[in-house]
Amino acid sequence: MDRKQNDMTPHDAAEALRWLSEMGADEIIGEAPVNRLAAPAAKPAPAAARAAPAPAAAPVVVVPGQSAVQFGSLQEIEAALASFDACPLKKTATSLCYADGNPEARVMLIGEAPGRDEDIQGKPFVGRSGQLLDRMLAAVGLSRTAQDRESAVFITNVIFWRPPGNRTPTDAETQMCLPFLIRTIELQKPDVIVCLGATPAQRLTGRTDGILKLRGKWVTANVSGRNIPLLPTLHPAYLLRQPAQKRLAWRDMLSLRQMLDAH
Ligand code: URA
Repeated sequence: MDRKQNDMTPHDAAEALRWLSEMGADEIIGEAPVNRLAAPAAKPAPAAARAAPAPAAAPVVVVPGQSAVQFGSLQEIEAALASFDACPLKKTATSLCYADGNPEARVMLIGEAPGRDEDIQGKPFVGRSGQLLDRMLAAVGLSRTAQDRESAVFITNVIFWRPPGNRTPTDAETQMCLPFLIRTIELQKPDVIVCLGATPAQRLTGRTDGILKLRGKWVTANVSGRNIPLLPTLHPAYLLRQPAQKRLAWRDMLSLRQMLDAH
């Protein structure tokens, strides 16, 4: 086990175990623990493979949209959103739901929009899908409450107020919130971005494919001139409805772990 796994709190370990059991791991098959997250030991490549070209680098996508550059800190962005009246969603929402987690984190997770529980608590991903997300993260040594940036995550959404009845946000609503999201990325400076579901994945990559096509494939997002590896994955709310798809999400979590370990 590497350091990140050993540093888990008992709560994180219990959450990770629960996620693994939801994934279908229902028995112990060895006496000694095996770290399946570790990169496989390098084997000498056969001559033919040594001559093969390197795998294609992740395609670069320039994240479209203006940045709200006038704000110099995440606190300023949150304060500006609190007094921003142009987005009609604010009129029907109970609270502003900007971000949660550690602003120093290497990983930024971006969801779609707050739901009912998030609207009540004013924080992203605190309902059932957030609880599943926390278990998925714990399984790869990440947590929104971690103090160290290596194991921490920062969580936000494309939209900062709950759309009535949890409907999909309109293009106009998304456009209004986008400058704040882009500024958040500029200031938080994540090493890696994970998009949860189609809305953030499509918005940030400019692609129109469905999430089942986009997921699991790294792209390099160019945000205001800075290149950031970005991984689209399945939204935890979708996984709650389609538990069989958790195996795909698990692959994405392992891919995230490997990317973090390699950089
Ligand atoms: N779904 C999201 O996309 N974001 C949240 O904050 C909660 C649920």
